Amino acid sequence: MIDKISRRSLLQTSATMIISTCLSSPCQLLARSLNILKGKTRLGVISDPHVNIQGSSGWLMGQFSTTGLQMVVEELNIKNVDFVLVAGDLLADGEWENLLVAKDILDGLRAPYFVISGNHDYRPADTSRMRKGFSYISTTDFAKIFSGHGYGSSGNIFWSQELTSGLRVIGLDGCLREEKIGWGGNLPAEQLAYLEDQLQNSLQQVVVMVHHSLLHWGDDGRSRRGRWYSLENSAAVRRILERHHEKIAFVVSGHRHVGLHFQFRQHIPYFLVPSINSYPMRYTIFELDQEAVQWTTPGLRVTPEFHGLAKNGLQQADWYREQDDLGRRRLLEFYENSIQRNGRISCQSGGDDPV
Ligand SMILES: [Fe+2]
Ligand SMILES: [Fe+2]
Repeated sequence: MIDKISRRSLLQTSATMIISTCLSSPCQLLARSLNILKGKTRLGVISDPHVNIQGSSGWLMGQFSTTGLQMVVEELNIKNVDFVLVAGDLLADGEWENLLVAKDILDGLRAPYFVISGNHDYRPADTSRMRKGFSYISTTDFAKIFSGHGYGSSGNIFWSQELTSGLRVIGLDGCLREEKIGWGGNLPAEQLAYLEDQLQNSLQQVVVMVHHSLLHWGDDGRSRRGRWYSLENSAAVRRILERHHEKIAFVVSGHRHVGLHFQFRQHIPYFLVPSINSYPMRYTIFELDQEAVQWTTPGLRVTPEFHGLAKNGLQQADWYREQDDLGRRRLLEFYENSIQRNGRISCQSGGDDPV
């Protein structure tokens, strides 16, 4: 089936991809004793806004970070989504001043919103990254500020939140807070056990949100730097998800800063969602019902010139310029990934193994 999907994807000429295959969830839920997802639920997802009140623009559009987040909040309000998920990296590097601005903007959302931390949302272990004029937050500061937005009073950095009688979100955090080099992650044993327990006991369809990915994308698995985009123990996390695959609506991750990517793995749909603060500057809206999961990734409403500036910022980045012409072209396609920008996964049967 993966081959079929790939072939179909290659044949698509429009930006809309329709996969007419059975997703193990949510359609399997119809055949099971889980609570039924009633009507449509629309989830907006914002990822990697990297708010930086003193930012300059390059690969990350730092100068635009507060305006960009405000724009997305306004658009999600106009689009009247039911809930908003924020998939981490809210800040440049764990600054109090940026945190307060990000929180203030997100509080403008009319829909309830839920947050997980990314690897830029606490005091950096590498103190050379700390800047004059800023003060720095601890992990517990972040969880306290966003108390009621997923985080509870336990002090835990992971959480489980009921959205509706038929839908739950589990937020996980595999960030390595003492790591000075790189941007990798590893999900602690405590959270593996928590995930297993939550899935075991959930009567709802579940969205799992975690900043680091649980899969490699593109060539990421071939280099040390590329592997930092996913959790070191992602296979162990996936094994837990696979044991409860009939309850998993989908898994959503940020951190990679590319256009939306999607793939099935062992019945489970995995989504990598774009950053609003780097090219191609998009956010995501998922629509779930009993029949399907649909997604769109609208771009921020900026001028073509500004979008070009963000593209230029990407193309000036070291790792981009190091490529030859073919490598740069492939990299740009990977970053834009137009073929999966919008899509729909429909359910036609009771959940046959799609693999
Ligand atoms: Fe990021
Ligand atoms: Fe990140």
